[in-house]
Amino acid sequence: MKHVLITGCSSGLGEAAVLRLAKAGYRVTGTVRRQTDADRLAAAAGPDASWILMEVTDDRSVRDGLGGLIERRGAPDVLVNNVGVPCLGSMEELRIPDFRAALETNVIGALRVYQAVAPAMRRRGSGQIVNLSSSIGKAALPIYGGYCATKFALEAMSEAMRYELAPFGVAVNILEPGIIATAFRNKKQAQRNDRIPANSPYGNRLDNPAPPDLMQRISTPEEVAAALQQLIETPQGEFRRVCGRDAEAFLEARRKLDDGAFERHLTGKGYAAIL
Ligand SMILES: NC(=O)c1ccc[n+]([C@@H]2O[C@H](COP(=O)([O-])OP(=O)(O)OC[C@H]3O[C@@H](n4cnc5c(N)ncnc54)[C@H](OP(=O)(O)O)[C@@H]3O)[C@@H](O)[C@H]2O)c1
Repeated sequence: MKHVLITGCSSGLGEAAVLRLAKAGYRVTGTVRRQTDADRLAAAAGPDASWILMEVTDDRSVRDGLGGLIERRGAPDVLVNNVGVPCLGSMEELRIPDFRAALETNVIGALRVYQAVAPAMRRRGSGQIVNLSSSIGKAALPIYGGYCATKFALEAMSEAMRYELAPFGVAVNILEPGIIATAFRNKKQAQRNDRIPANSPYGNRLDNPAPPDLMQRISTPEEVAAALQQLIETPQGEFRRVCGRDAEAFLEARRKLDDGAFERHLTGKGYAAIL
């Protein structure tokens, strides 16, 4: 069975993916930042899963963690670059250090992990890399500009990675979920409380209730983990996989409408206020 390495498994999609793939018989290595998370997940995932403590913003942590793994077990068959953090704030009010931290995690961190793993896959002549983007890695929303910028960057890097690695037999794919019901949403709420000033002219954008039809379409982490498994099982299939009914509707509108029509569509849907 394939050996799958997944970053950021303490919660949400990473956790669901480790549990699903281990249950399906894959050998899985998950990265977490705390030993307590490794202990908790080890009990749930069973003997086919192993754990590495890794901080993606730290060169040494990635080098030691993944270098050691590749030395012991060879390159994984699949790398899932899943770590990601939100970055809330209007472009006017977004604090530069907050934006820099999100870029360091979502963009540089993903590249750092890629650079630790891709050479061994390339030398072996096989492998797959799945980068976790988002439906808003293709079309931005107000107040989410910082986060969207990190995912747009990841999309660009993924395209270059794909073209560069294809001649060596290594596939690169992108997973684009819509909203997933995970701890990520609480992290966004914490940033909303911490970062958006009480008198912000943009605050109302975040406090309007989400359209009810949209909230009925969001995904569970288990549903996204199932889409990830399908992507792993068809590495030579589609480059990008959209996941979630909300994401499908959002990206279909983006594809079909010109800029002006898309802007009117978003405003009409209340998308500016939802996530
Ligand atoms: N939730 C959504 O609505 C949504 C939608 C589309 C795409 N996505 C993307 O899907 C991916 C997974 O998101 P999720 O919803 O599952 O989020 P989550 O539950 O917040 O999980 C994020 C994971 O990343 C880890 N992490 C954060 N910063 C890290 C760092 N510097 N070094 C190492 N690990 C770090 C977290 O570990 P700690 O517990 O140690 O912080 C956690 O394990 C992300 O790339 C996200 O951008 C999410």
